[in-house]
Amino acid sequence: MRIDILTLFPEMFAGPFDHSIVKRAIENKLVEIHFHNIRDFSKSKHRHVDDYPFGGGSGMVMMLQPIADAIEKLRSERNYDEVIFLSPDGKLFDQPEANRLSLLNNIILLCGHYKGIDERIREHFISLEISIGNYVLSGGELAAAVVCDSIIRLIPGAMSDETSALSDSFQDHLLSAPVYTRPANYKGWKVPEILLSGHEAKIKQWRHEQALKRTQEHRPELLDRITEE
Ligand code: ADE
Repeated sequence: MRIDILTLFPEMFAGPFDHSIVKRAIENKLVEIHFHNIRDFSKSKHRHVDDYPFGGGSGMVMMLQPIADAIEKLRSERNYDEVIFLSPDGKLFDQPEANRLSLLNNIILLCGHYKGIDERIREHFISLEISIGNYVLSGGELAAAVVCDSIIRLIPGAMSDETSALSDSFQDHLLSAPVYTRPANYKGWKVPEILLSGHEAKIKQWRHEQALKRTQEHRPELLDRITEE
C-alpha cells in the first residue's frame, strides 16, 4: 500500500509514525508513506497557500492552485483508489471504513488548515471526505495520522498476532471483553476465576457475555446496529 500525504506540516507526523506497529510496517515495506509539502507547489513569491474568502467573512481559505498542482502531479504518476480530504464536515470514520481502506493500493490524504479549502478542490479532486469525530481540530494532520494508524495495523503482517485485529473492539460491533494478566491476585484484587479454569468453551462464552455487557453499558447504540443488519 502507498499513502501520499499532502500537508503544510509534514513534521507533525514524525511522532505517530515512528513507533510500534506503524514504524515496523514502514520498515518492513508493508506500507510506503510519502509526504508532500503543499507550500512547495505555491507559485507565489512568498509561497502563499491561503487567501481571503471571496464575499468576505472571517478566516483564510486554502488556495486551489497549489493543491491542484500537487494532486495532478501525483495522479500523473499512478492511479489512486481514493483522494481523501480530512475535515470535520466528512463522513464519520469507523472500523468498517478502516477495513475497506486497508485493502486499497494507493490513496492520497489531504490535510486542510485555516477556514477551509476552495470548494473547487472538493468538486474536482476529492472522492471521499472523512471526519474522525464531532469536534474541530486545528488541521487535518492529527486526523490523517489517526486514519493511517487504524488502516496500517490491519495490513496483513503488520501485527505479530494476525488474529488480534479480528478480536478488536468494533470488528463485530461489540466492545472487547476485559483482559487480565499476571498476577492472578494483586493485593486481593482477583482475576475472574473462569479465566484460570482452562475451559476454552466456557471462557469464550464468558468473553462474549462480557463484551455484550460492556457494550450495553458504554455504547448501547452499537447493539442497535447488530439487530439492524
Ligand atoms: N480537521 C479538523 N477537524 C477535523 C476532524 N474532526 N476530523 C477530520 N479532519 C479534521
